[in-house]
Amino acid sequence: MNQMPAELPDAEPDERLKAIFARTVEKMKEVVREFEITQDELHVAGDYFNRLGQSGFCRSLIDVALAMTSVDVTARVPGGTRPNLEGPFYRAAPLREDGDLFAGDPPPGTPVLHLSGRVTDAATGAPIPGAIVDLWQADHDGHYDLDDLQLFGRVRADEEGRYRARTAVPKDYSDHDHDPIGELFRAMGRHNRRAAHIHVKIWEGEHCLLTTQLFVPGNPYLDSDYVEGAVSDDLLIGMKPADSGVADEYEAVFDFAVSRTSR
Ligand SMILES: [Fe+2]
Repeated sequence: MNQMPAELPDAEPDERLKAIFARTVEKMKEVVREFEITQDELHVAGDYFNRLGQSGFCRSLIDVALAMTSVDVTARVPGGTRPNLEGPFYRAAPLREDGDLFAGDPPPGTPVLHLSGRVTDAATGAPIPGAIVDLWQADHDGHYDLDDLQLFGRVRADEEGRYRARTAVPKDYSDHDHDPIGELFRAMGRHNRRAAHIHVKIWEGEHCLLTTQLFVPGNPYLDSDYVEGAVSDDLLIGMKPADSGVADEYEAVFDFAVSRTSR
C-alpha cells in the first residue's frame, strides 16, 4: 500500500499557480452565490469530474471551453492568420506533389474543393517559397480516414508562395458522443458538433509556423460550434462554384500570413 511520505520535500512556492488558483476560486464563488448552488450540487459536479478524469477527457473539456481564449491571448501574431486548435486527428501525411488529397477518384457524390492561395511572411508580406501547407480534414460524411489518410496531405508552395490542393468539401461532425463530454452537452440540451472545417499547419523546413482551421461558409454550425470561440469570420474560406462549371465542384482562395520569428 502506498503511503504519503512523512515529510514532503521542500519546493519553491509557485507564485503564478498560487495567484491563478486564488483567482479561479474567487470567480467560482461568484457563480456559487449567483446560482445558490447547494453542497449536493457541488458533489454532483465533483462526481462528474471524477468520471471525466477516469475517461481521460479532462484536457478535451478544458480545450472545448477555454483553449481558444488562450490561443487568442498568447499565440496571435500582428497581421497574421488567426491560429486555431490542432485537435486530436493530426497525422504526419505524405507530400502530395500533384496537390491531390484524394487517393484516386473522389468517391461518387463527393463535392470537390479546389483550395488555393499564398503563404506570406506576416511581418514583411514577402512570399515564403517552398512553404508546406499541411492539410487534414473530415470527408463529406464527417469522417476522418485515419487508416488510409484520405484527405490528409502536404502540398508545397511554389517560389511565389502559391499553393494549390484538391480535396473534398468537409462536413460537420459530432465529437464525444459516448463519453462524459457528450453527456454534459446532452444534459444542457446542446449539441456537440464541430462546424465543417479543414485543419492546416504551415511549415517552413522543420518549423511549424502556424496551426489553424478553415471553415466552410454556410455550414449550419458556424454559430454554435461546440468548441467555444473556434469559428471566426477571418477563417472562413470564400467558396464559390468552380469556374470549370463542373457540377458539385467548388473553389476557394485562402491566404496565410505567418510569423517566421515566433518559431
Ligand atoms: Fe477536426
